[in-house]
Amino acid sequence: MRFLVTGGAGYIGSHTCVELLNAGYDITVVDNLYNSKRASLDRVKEITGKDFKFFECDIRDKEGLTKAFKEDKIDAVIHFAGLKAVGESVYKPLEYYDNNIGGTLTLCEVMRENGCKNIVFSSSATVYGTENESPLNEEMKTGGTTNPYGTTKYMIELILKDLYVADNEWSITLLRYFNPIGAHESGKIGENPNGIPNNLLPYVTQVAIGKLPCLTVFGNDYDTPDGTCIRDYIHVVDLAKGHLKALEDSFKSNRVEVFNLGTGNGYSVLQIIEAFEKACGFKLNYKIGPRRAGDLARLYSNPTKAKEKLGWVAEKNIDDMCADSWRWQKNNPNGFED
Ligand code: NAD
Ligand code: UD1
Repeated sequence: MRFLVTGGAGYIGSHTCVELLNAGYDITVVDNLYNSKRASLDRVKEITGKDFKFFECDIRDKEGLTKAFKEDKIDAVIHFAGLKAVGESVYKPLEYYDNNIGGTLTLCEVMRENGCKNIVFSSSATVYGTENESPLNEEMKTGGTTNPYGTTKYMIELILKDLYVADNEWSITLLRYFNPIGAHESGKIGENPNGIPNNLLPYVTQVAIGKLPCLTVFGNDYDTPDGTCIRDYIHVVDLAKGHLKALEDSFKSNRVEVFNLGTGNGYSVLQIIEAFEKACGFKLNYKIGPRRAGDLARLYSNPTKAKEKLGWVAEKNIDDMCADSWRWQKNNPNGFED
């Protein structure tokens, strides 16, 4: 079987490519390299010892995308491609709606024209909005997103659900990720943010390597045991494995299915700092600062559905996540270099 992976050169995409290749699948990667480097794909080849097809192409480029579908029969698409910076999306809503929603529409059109009606989509816990109490389960109300990035995820979920209503030959899987961190244990691939990172772990690793002077903990006056926010961090390799399980399930019947991919365990920012210090062996320079606008005190998953229906559970713990994030950063202080 051959799967087409949009955004396959990115952080989660590259780790998923490794798992797909290791499981013996053929893959075709489509990525415009807007937020990634070709080097990540070379590393995927190094780790797996396997080659694959790569199209440097924007998913909004219908002609370019069609070429990838014409070259081989594609059995399903795993759709990671998209813009993902929450803060930036507030300033660039048109770019986010165009890239994420426009890209998904073109992709689905090309899929349909080429007889491929199986898509696994990278959604996010952000679609649960701000009103639901954690642990979050798939039955809870979605919407009420607070930024254009989150709204694109919510809208794409609606679009894909409508697509199934119109044509039930589609098999649609919506995967709601919690907080992916960590890296492949080889230390060869990992998260490679442009500029100053917004997310916690890349910020932590860059402070540890000396690229940034100090981490600011965004608030310690939340209603949580140590006052800092709680999140459901999940190792990116566990997340990648979840995609394989979801793919296997997607061929059993045509349907729309939604799965949380999280561990179900919540860790505070201070607990993450502590685990990271254990992994790197020295103290991290951090200070307590004000709250960041839009942060919720606690956000974690109920991962039961993925366990029961897919037979998937996250296996790696917080120490593995921190150790692997640190190995990646230490081995690649400047990320992927061309
Ligand atoms: P990433 O930026 O590392 O990967 C996305 C990839 O898509 C990049 O390689 C980028 O170059 C490519 N891309 C973007 N727009 C494209 C386009 N129009 N055409 C072709 N390629 C394009 O991000 P990631 O962390 O690997 O996230 C992958 C997906 O998972 C995204 O859709 C993201 O929104 C979603 N997600 C990520 C997180 C997270 O914390 N990382 C959480 C929830 C959901
Ligand atoms: C953020 C996004 C979310 C997106 C997810 C993955 C916001 C409000 N939410 O989630 O929509 O799906 O990233 O890309 O941006 N923290 C610090 N100091 C830092 C950075 C983070 O204390 O320098 C804290 C945050 O307050 C939060 C935790 O660390 O409590 C995790 O933050 P982050 O990695 O940005 O993820 P989320 O906020 O959960």
